[in-house]
Amino acid sequence: MPIKNHRTLFENAPDGILVVDASGIIRDVNAEAERLFDYSRQELEGQSIEVLVPEAAREAHSGHRARYQREPLRRPMGIGMELLARRKDGSTFPAEISLNRMPGEEGDFTVATVRDVSMRKRLRDFGAGALRASEEVRARIARDLHDDTAQQLSAHLIRLRLLEKASSPGERKEHLKALRAGIQATAEGVRRIARGLRPPELQDAGLLPALQAHVRALEQTHELRVSLDVESVERYLTPDGLLVLYRIVQEALTNVARHAGTGEASVTVGETGEFVVAEITDQGQGFRPDRTYTEGRGLGLIGMQERAVMVGGHLRVDSGEGEGTRVLVRLPKELSGEVQRV
Ligand SMILES: Nc1ncnc2c1ncn2[C@@H]1O[C@H](COP(=O)(O)OP(=O)(O)O)[C@@H](O)[C@H]1O
Ligand SMILES: [Mg+2]
Repeated sequence: MPIKNHRTLFENAPDGILVVDASGIIRDVNAEAERLFDYSRQELEGQSIEVLVPEAAREAHSGHRARYQREPLRRPMGIGMELLARRKDGSTFPAEISLNRMPGEEGDFTVATVRDVSMRKRLRDFGAGALRASEEVRARIARDLHDDTAQQLSAHLIRLRLLEKASSPGERKEHLKALRAGIQATAEGVRRIARGLRPPELQDAGLLPALQAHVRALEQTHELRVSLDVESVERYLTPDGLLVLYRIVQEALTNVARHAGTGEASVTVGETGEFVVAEITDQGQGFRPDRTYTEGRGLGLIGMQERAVMVGGHLRVDSGEGEGTRVLVRLPKELSGEVQRV
């Protein structure tokens, strides 16, 4: 059944839609366009489309617009370009914009469809950042293994050869002693490399002591006091899952310390039937999670989200200006919870 009321279709479109006349004046907008640009419909209608273009690009934009008037191809705008759109408060967001021509009674209209692609761009930045980080970690491990571990093992081999050739028991004893000390040092070195990859407290003692260690550091460096209410959930998660949970809480607390403008935060970790759940809250200044995009920044939130998704979980950020912030994490239980005997 064809939809009769096209206005409804227009209003409810998931993308922002702006209808612009031949002289560049906005004549109609839908609800999503109001939301994206933070203007009300009344403010937009009658304005030049250029108010939605960042100042630096306005001149070029009016040139492009004139060309489009002469040669109105149906096409996405600025293919392969990262276009920026401007909100009422002057902030910008990366946008994907498609243009279309629509005949009208007083001349042709241009229909611009606008999609906020900051999430997509952040995901891409995150991927690039994560790749770089993992390359750096690999390079460090490679260096440590090469410069320390491999060198030391070669030295042990030489010792072994000397031991084989030793003629007196006293000489043999000497070599054995040196070999034992050397192997001990190598083992310690390998442990140190492993520790850099995974916080040791987490594996050995569990989540609470690991978080306590992190919180102590935050209290000293940022004067943030954190109340921890952490149940032992280690038995429901694999080491990877546990590390994900730890890193999320760590990043959320670092965010409170850096951005919330408050001296207090709280963390609860517990479980429901199917999930391990965690909540990191503060009563600080809060922020708008849909407005955190800034060039080359803000990969923490998306990193937390990615980590949760990686183990089949979910992460939500509830916040608003002046409302404090609550990060909610839900990870599926990966293990039965029965205590494993080793
Ligand atoms: N608890 C918080 N309170 C206030 N603002 C926050 C909080 N957490 C995050 N933010 C805001 O969200 C932005 C993005 O956070 P994030 O992705 O971790 O990046 P970064 O910490 O590197 O800036 C921060 O720059 C900050 O403006
Ligand atoms: Mg951060």
